[in-house]
Amino acid sequence: MRLHVVDHPLVAHKLTTLRDQRTDSPTFRRLADELVTLLAYEATRDVRTEQVDISTPVAPTTGVRLSYPRPLVVPILRAGLGMLDGMVRLLPTAEVGFLGMVRDEDTLQATTYATRMPEDLSGRQVYVVDPMLATGGTLVAAIRLLIERGADDVTALCLLAAPEGVELMERELAGKPVTVVTAAVDERLNERGFIVPGLGDAGDRLYG
Ligand code: PRP
Repeated sequence: MRLHVVDHPLVAHKLTTLRDQRTDSPTFRRLADELVTLLAYEATRDVRTEQVDISTPVAPTTGVRLSYPRPLVVPILRAGLGMLDGMVRLLPTAEVGFLGMVRDEDTLQATTYATRMPEDLSGRQVYVVDPMLATGGTLVAAIRLLIERGADDVTALCLLAAPEGVELMERELAGKPVTVVTAAVDERLNERGFIVPGLGDAGDRLYG
């Protein structure tokens, strides 16, 4: 597993406003969307392309286009939905699958309540979006499912990560073709499994 923390002043600026408890839901949604675009720019650096011949108004030339099979974007419901639009804006040919997962507030164990995506992901590049990588249980389970279905390249985009979650991913997904792209790795998790300092409950701040 590879970890990429996007170090950019615009990312840091938007993330700081997201963290601020005074930021209201409409602003939070807009900033999350903008931040995804910046993270996605980095996360799609290795998106597969193919050569294409075109003509400009002046002359024939060759260029590239996103190749087939199409990349798959998978938001993890519910908070991941807040990152979907930004992702498909950058990857307009992408197919979208959905994973509904929820973490028990007491045990912190993740369970899957909905799966809607192709059974066969052989040879597919997959982009999973979920704002928070906390204990890592949710993302490990999601990525295992994608790899079991044949995905051969999985990139997870998270707004924020905790060191505990990164460690779990590194341990459980060692040697797998997985990259995590995030705006920051924070200090730690608290006793309720919240990222510290974090930004609170992303799902509630987006949709609560
Ligand atoms: C949050 C978050 C991740 C998960 C992270 O979702 O969006 O999916 O928790 O926790 P983990 O790394 O410890 O597994 P939540 O379960 O609160 O559901 P929601 O998106 O419906 O609010």
